[in-house]
Amino acid sequence: MQTIAIYNQKGGTGKTTTTINLGHALALAGKQVLIIDIDDQGNDAECLGVKFTKSIYHLLKDEAPFEECITTARKNLDLLPSDETISQVALEMVGWRNRENALKKRLEHIDKYDYILIDCQTGLGILNENALNFCQKLIVPVSMEYLSVKGLFKVDKLIYDLREDFQKNLKIDLIIPTFVDDRVKRTKEYIEFFEGMEHFKDMISPNIRIDTKLSESFAHGKTIFEYYLNSRGAYDHIQLCKRVLEGI
Ligand SMILES: Nc1ncnc2c1ncn2[C@@H]1O[C@H](COP(=O)(O)OP(=O)(O)O)[C@@H](O)[C@H]1O
Ligand SMILES: [Mg+2]
Repeated sequence: MQTIAIYNQKGGTGKTTTTINLGHALALAGKQVLIIDIDDQGNDAECLGVKFTKSIYHLLKDEAPFEECITTARKNLDLLPSDETISQVALEMVGWRNRENALKKRLEHIDKYDYILIDCQTGLGILNENALNFCQKLIVPVSMEYLSVKGLFKVDKLIYDLREDFQKNLKIDLIIPTFVDDRVKRTKEYIEFFEGMEHFKDMISPNIRIDTKLSESFAHGKTIFEYYLNSRGAYDHIQLCKRVLEGI
């Protein structure tokens, strides 16, 4: 089993898009997949078009059984959904002992999945810290703009600090250039910049190109493979999935 957090401190870099489409690609490849949403936007349930009664709120706050809190989203794909109630839990967690490991404590006995993907929130915060403490691998989607690239460096610094605090062997495993448009000069410059950096050059995944079909698909509660299989977005997420199946 591999637990992978998908995180960038900057919003709108493609975290949710990557989580949903990578998750479904892995599920279509026959892997057992769980997506965990820890964002108060609750986008994952909406993008997958599923309804739910219990969520990560009940798992963390009420210690509800895991099986009651998940929803079957697709064949081989379960979702532990989230909504705005998670922000109440985040506030209460401040008073909890060992609060940085609450998610890990509730989920570490779960062994029925090949992949657990955690769709992180934008920014810092206790829930993201929980995700980083629970995961074994870290994927950072970086859109081709200054603040997103800056977000990558912030993540790198944050996990360095967490490593010091918890002696955890966490590092960035994969950087996904997202919203890639080869016609834009800035895009090429950023990709060359990553590839030229000794620290990052082996972590760069196949690109996710800009594709409006990706955002349209979510409006229909569908993954890109259900909405438009013959699209750039579907092709690119399949390449990403292959990279993840190789072990990242
Ligand atoms: N490669 C892409 N091409 C076009 N639109 C995209 C792409 N990736 C994401 N989007 C759209 O951009 C917005 C932000 O993406 P999202 O995955 O929600 O980012 P995050 O979870 O990091 O905030 C969404 O509306 C999404 O549909
Ligand atoms: Mg998101």
